[in-house]
Amino acid sequence: MWMIFSDRLGLGRRMAGYLTEQGNTCILVTVGKKFGQPRDGEFTLRPAQFDDYFALCRELSESDRMPNKIVHLWSVTQANEPETNSDLFSGVQNLGFYSLIYLAKAIGMQDNLDPIEIIIVSNGVHAVTGTEILHPEKATLLGACKSIPQEYGMIACRAIDLEVSSNEVKLTEILASQLLAELAGPLSDPIVAYRGDERYAQTYESMHLERPTTDSLLRRKGVYLITGGLGGIGSVLSKHLANTVQAKLALTSRSVFPDRKGWKEWLATHGESDRTSIRIRKVQELEDLAAEVLVLQADIADYAQMKQAIATVQARFGKIHGVIHAAGVSHIEAFNAIQAIQPNHCEMHFRPKVYGLYVLQKILKEQPIDFCVLFSSLSAVLAGLGMAAYTAANIFMDAFADKCNRTAAICWTSIDWDQWQLGESEKRHGVLGGSIEKFAMRPAEGLEAFERILARGPGPRIVVSTGDLDARLRQWIYFRIPDLYK
Ligand SMILES: NC(=O)c1ccc[n+]([C@@H]2O[C@H](COP(=O)([O-])OP(=O)(O)OC[C@H]3O[C@@H](n4cnc5c(N)ncnc54)[C@H](OP(=O)(O)O)[C@@H]3O)[C@@H](O)[C@H]2O)c1
Repeated sequence: MWMIFSDRLGLGRRMAGYLTEQGNTCILVTVGKKFGQPRDGEFTLRPAQFDDYFALCRELSESDRMPNKIVHLWSVTQANEPETNSDLFSGVQNLGFYSLIYLAKAIGMQDNLDPIEIIIVSNGVHAVTGTEILHPEKATLLGACKSIPQEYGMIACRAIDLEVSSNEVKLTEILASQLLAELAGPLSDPIVAYRGDERYAQTYESMHLERPTTDSLLRRKGVYLITGGLGGIGSVLSKHLANTVQAKLALTSRSVFPDRKGWKEWLATHGESDRTSIRIRKVQELEDLAAEVLVLQADIADYAQMKQAIATVQARFGKIHGVIHAAGVSHIEAFNAIQAIQPNHCEMHFRPKVYGLYVLQKILKEQPIDFCVLFSSLSAVLAGLGMAAYTAANIFMDAFADKCNRTAAICWTSIDWDQWQLGESEKRHGVLGGSIEKFAMRPAEGLEAFERILARGPGPRIVVSTGDLDARLRQWIYFRIPDLYK
């Protein structure tokens, strides 16, 4: 039994035609204004309404028609589709990431299920040939693809990215046969791309990066903007830049930070563990190391605030030489199992890591700088329990950097970091418990990796894994494919 979330290109209908000819039963689901069943075997639903997915699954489950293969084609769009951007981001999520999350939730609420495979099909997600049109907004669906099987024992997922060219009529025929051929066999590679006749599976290669010699990209007394600069990693980096190059540091966060004149009184009237007191002491420590520090209150996702912040930095320090984007949300309320996840939980991660990047891109267009480093996470590779939204947001950062590097004059580097040991704060990503904490890097190790990656200059996406990545992929991603890595 098959269910196809049908696309506008006609790929779904063509697949359904082939499958029915072969004697399969096929249910079609299309985007509609309400949940309904316009014809036997055809449903409509509203992509952003969980209740509609629930109604669909309940109807299928009660009529004993629950499919064992679901092909989700809502992230396949026409070749001439406009480039997606911040305004279109949420619409793309409704048809992609959120749609998949709601589907998994709705399936998870049915009783006595047989195993189900969800095949997620898209175009423009992976940079393979260097010429395809990229839609990083769609790449969040990989977060769902990696997280759903980790949280639902009966659901397996794979993602297939296609290349949609302008000759769509002939194309749907070719793509439909490509897809059916891919699906005819057992699950082999969870993440695949087709470009023309070529099939590509996503893999990772280990590489050794040399310790930088004299030519570090960091300039003595250089001006560096660190978003989230007073957070755990931001503080470690600031101290490093103060120590090594006596940097001029612009540290941004959303929280109010008292004016220098008020520091003494603030420290005298607030306890040791007060968040602002801790931040004031951090800045004082940096200044003791001969760094010049400017703390700015600015939400990275707010263009006006960031533009103002940049103007302040330039007025005080002059030209900015590098940007480190380390703003992120790490409090426990932002990490939820898919069954409990709500859009507001996801938006917490999307704000700094998605909307923040659109703002950075706009601002940096006018600033020729040495580098822009994005602090993404190993979760983009391995996902993790309770991490679907965080994973999606980090995957977006990686995909966005890939796209920017096609055209931008500056070098965007997105680093998928393993866990850092940050004292108290290391407990904050505690959802995965011991499974990642044992891999946490000491700050000195993280800084060494940071310097080596900076010295490498432009290049492919970088993953920093302190443990054997293949073993971790087997445990977290390929666990449904026991034969793959024998
Ligand atoms: N810690 C790790 O082990 C680890 C591992 C892999 C990747 N990472 C990534 O590295 C980055 C830094 O992690 P961290 O552990 O240092 O996190 P953190 O301690 O929570 O610091 C992040 C900082 O970002 C600021 N922030 C959040 N949203 C913002 C926004 N919209 N605009 C401006 N500032 C914002 C927060 O300050 P306010 O609340 O005052 O705004 C906070 O101080 C994150 O993106 C994280 O995903 C961390």
